[in-house]
Amino acid sequence: MISPVQLQNSYAAQRVLVTGGLGFIGSNLVHALHALGADVTVLDSLDPSCGGDLRNVEPIADRVRIVVADIGCEESAANCLRDVDVVFNLASEIAHTPRIEQAGRDLALNVSSQLSFLAHCVRYAPGVRVVYTSTRQVYGVPAYLPVDERHPFHPVDFNGVHKLAASQYHLLLWRLQKLDSVVLYLTNIYGPRMALHLPQQGFLANFIAKALRGEPLDVFGDGLQLRDPVYVDDAVRAILHAGAIGLGTNRSFNIGHAQTHSVLEIARRLSRIAALADPVIRPFPAALQPIDVGSYATDTRHAEAALGWVARVSMADGLATSLASFGWQEPVTSSTRGGQLASAGQERIA
Ligand SMILES: NC(=O)c1ccc[n+]([C@@H]2O[C@H](COP(=O)([O-])OP(=O)(O)OC[C@H]3O[C@@H](n4cnc5c(N)ncnc54)[C@H](O)[C@@H]3O)[C@@H](O)[C@H]2O)c1
Repeated sequence: MISPVQLQNSYAAQRVLVTGGLGFIGSNLVHALHALGADVTVLDSLDPSCGGDLRNVEPIADRVRIVVADIGCEESAANCLRDVDVVFNLASEIAHTPRIEQAGRDLALNVSSQLSFLAHCVRYAPGVRVVYTSTRQVYGVPAYLPVDERHPFHPVDFNGVHKLAASQYHLLLWRLQKLDSVVLYLTNIYGPRMALHLPQQGFLANFIAKALRGEPLDVFGDGLQLRDPVYVDDAVRAILHAGAIGLGTNRSFNIGHAQTHSVLEIARRLSRIAALADPVIRPFPAALQPIDVGSYATDTRHAEAALGWVARVSMADGLATSLASFGWQEPVTSSTRGGQLASAGQERIA
């Protein structure tokens, strides 16, 4: 395990670049790096279809350097990469779709821009540690659970194919001794600064957005599919560990929570916290069915052993904190006034 003090020592006064640093996970990482004393540069195109938003870093905007450009732009990348100690490469389109009409755009952002960016890294920061955030979606429908790093890759959508290609580019450049790359295959991540206004951001963004509107949650299929969501602070810690640790030949890690829950269980829990009506079970939408992977669970042992990382935040705590971060307040009812009804804090124990 890496202690908070060791993390502080690893990043204090280090020059770090965060691509996609205005997005959901990237901006949470930028806040953490700034708090650890790092000298942070953000490179983000603020693509309107992605989750980037300048307000995500507003409180520290005058203390980090922000460059708004595509990571494929050589001039901007060269400028950001000069003398950098660690690169956190989070820039990405994350929407999952089976629609070929959207594949070209995803290819441009997730493959072409990434390949150009990696060429810029090799040229302007040879040998630098690059932590790339890939996705569990590269594995497709699990052949077995929990999914370890030896599981075959069978992505079920275009985003998964492109993220796999970009992951492989990172690993290839490590094998060629051009970059010190590490690839993290992240499970579903949730928490403050999620882009709730965008479509196709996954079921948790959808659930939280509906909860904030006070609407009952829709659960597709029987709701028994397992998931192992990770609260964003835990995901950020995994990324920080991957940037700081001396690694051998193990270069890819599955990042997920050891605790799994069914989608229905998550919906019920969130509904209780947000005082919503029971979730509504609906047939799987025809458009989404082909890219559903069924149950997913991460084998966390490799990340635990090599990165010294485990997810700590429980689903109940993470959901309550996420809702609160978006301004949700427990409705005042006659029973809550009398202190009879379970508060979000009591729900957490359930
Ligand atoms: N959110 C999740 O549940 C999840 C799960 C698995 C993996 N991931 C991975 O984590 C990373 C971050 O995801 P997120 O949820 O924060 O997404 P996000 O959409 O909130 O942020 C991505 C950011 O990247 C920027 N960007 C996209 N393409 C770019 C390009 N070519 N050049 C410069 N900037 C570009 C966008 O403007 C945006 O700010 C991605 O690599 C994603 O694949 C996320």
